[in-house]
Amino acid sequence: MANELSELISNNRAWAAQHIAQDPEFFTRLSRQQSPEYLWIGCSDSRVPANDIVGLAPGELFVHRNVSNLVYHTDFNCMSVLQYAIEVLQVKHIIVTGHYGCGGVRAALQNREMGLIDNWLRDVRDIYERNRPRLELLEEEARIDRLCELNVVQQVANVCYTTIVQRAWHQGQKLSVHGCIYSINDGILRDLGVQVTGPEQLAPVYRIEE
Ligand code: CO
Repeated sequence: MANELSELISNNRAWAAQHIAQDPEFFTRLSRQQSPEYLWIGCSDSRVPANDIVGLAPGELFVHRNVSNLVYHTDFNCMSVLQYAIEVLQVKHIIVTGHYGCGGVRAALQNREMGLIDNWLRDVRDIYERNRPRLELLEEEARIDRLCELNVVQQVANVCYTTIVQRAWHQGQKLSVHGCIYSINDGILRDLGVQVTGPEQLAPVYRIEE
């Protein structure tokens, strides 16, 4: 029986050999430790490969991906990634990255049931409802793309509202939270300019002090 993963395994051997040819110590060094400066929170979409887009090598980007790059405080997975990245790895930047034409965002604007995923996408519907008057002025595709951007802005805020990020700030750790959007059409990543570097940028009700 032919191994159904033979192409992938063969790709992997070539990839590993290429790295060793360029830098014989590459994997030995990586196996000792990772010290990424960035945490990427992005969409699971196969067209948005985190490391490739920003040209970072293994060891340089800590990654969390889920459908539509959502940050829920009840998500044990996302919160654990955040805590580990900040407290143990001491990342300096968190980059929430959405992408235009996001299937999850598109699905949230439809009324057809898709199953469990509809519950996951609830926050996107909330964001839509809060911005409905302005979103309704746009044509369908532009409306989805604007909602993709607004979703990133909200998820940046959600990251900042966690006790994890706020504790880091209060302890004097230098940590910036950024929002970016990627275009599958042209491969370009754009900074949405919503960077947050401290609790003073948050509305008072969201500030949590020790
Ligand atoms: Co997506």
